[in-house]
Amino acid sequence: MRLLNWRTATASFAAAVGLAFALGLPALAPSDADAASAAPAPVMAPGAAPVAPASEAAPTHRPLRDNLPPQAPNPQEPLIFGGYLDAPAFSVVPRKPHLGLYPCSQCHKVLPLNKQPRALVAAPHVASLPHGRGRMWCLDCHVAEDRDWLRTLDGRRVDFDQSQLVCGQCHGPRHRDWAFGAHGKRAANWQGERQIYACTHCHDAHDPKIPPREPAPPPPVRAGLERPALTPAHAAQPWQRAASGAR
Ligand code: HEC
Ligand code: HEC
Ligand code: HEC
Ligand code: HEC
Repeated sequence: MRLLNWRTATASFAAAVGLAFALGLPALAPSDADAASAAPAPVMAPGAAPVAPASEAAPTHRPLRDNLPPQAPNPQEPLIFGGYLDAPAFSVVPRKPHLGLYPCSQCHKVLPLNKQPRALVAAPHVASLPHGRGRMWCLDCHVAEDRDWLRTLDGRRVDFDQSQLVCGQCHGPRHRDWAFGAHGKRAANWQGERQIYACTHCHDAHDPKIPPREPAPPPPVRAGLERPALTPAHAAQPWQRAASGAR
């Protein structure tokens, strides 16, 4: 068999595949015209990039998009997240003791499962789901068949005490900031074990916007000191406006 010149034989093919990958489309098969004019293309596994024969010098850079196709996760296995490289070690303040309705199975083991998105009128649950402005439903984050678990979008289980792994799927930069200490709050101790609050300590998972707060008046001035006079531009301070009811 004729030794393939991988580069020329697959140039048009690789261009088409590369474009398809760049656009996020499924890999294109070479058109008939391409196939007729080009030498036989190397055998391709679906989703894999063309591989140069061993006799060829390897390309100088790592080909893009040569990752193995993802394995379907086992839904019974809890998600394990190894953390970020160089992130300081931490543990998360548990949430389960704060959840009045946990364990969920106390009711849900006898309730029929209803996957239909709907207003939950007869439930002790959130009446609406402002989070994501209508793009999410309960069972995107809660395991339908075993309500005592949260879940990732690809179906892996997440413990209620590790709910930041659910949030981190869609709020990746925020989750990374949080792991490094730039977002969120440390529970105690500047020294010793780093224990930090989970996202849901501050954000309601179903309505995560932090509600606005009334600005507080400044602390009293120490005896013997005087507060500097306000310029007209600063005369109506937010806390004065709040106190007078004006906005
Ligand atoms: C006191 C009983 C009770 C507890 C405890 C409870 N639920 Fe429910 N839940 C209900 C009822 C009743 C419904 C059905 C409401 C309806 O159909 O309008 C429901 C419905 C739901 C639904 C909508 C999907 C479905 O299967 O109908 C979700 C999601 C849900 N519950 C999640 C939870 C989670 C998560 C917990 C634990 C953190 C929990 N529930 C604990 C009573 C309960
Ligand atoms: C974005 C993911 C997400 C969605 C969507 C979501 N939840 Fe939750 N839910 C959570 C997380 C995370 C917690 C844990 C909250 C905590 O730690 O305070 C939670 C907690 C709960 C609890 C326990 C609350 C308590 O105080 O005991 C119930 C009940 C519940 N969810 C029901 C629902 C229902 C019903 C829906 C749909 C209307 C829903 N959830 C949609 C993530 C979600
Ligand atoms: C499936 C994706 C997804 C998951 C999981 C998710 N979020 Fe969100 N989140 C969104 C989307 C979408 C928005 C809305 C952005 C917009 O308003 O356009 C949002 C908005 C927010 C906001 C801003 C709210 C506002 O109006 O200012 C906060 C805070 C937030 N999420 C926190 C969380 C927390 C905490 C969790 C974990 C319990 C979480 N998110 C899990 C998708 C997600
Ligand atoms: C100690 C409390 C605290 C913790 C813990 C916390 N946050 Fe926040 N988060 C805040 C505050 C306060 C804001 C600013 C809200 C504002 O500007 O209105 C905020 C803002 C955000 C926003 C942007 C909202 C917007 O309107 O732009 C997102 C998204 C968010 N947080 C996600 C997360 C996620 C994900 C986690 C966990 C990995 C987390 N937060 C942990 C307090 C917290």
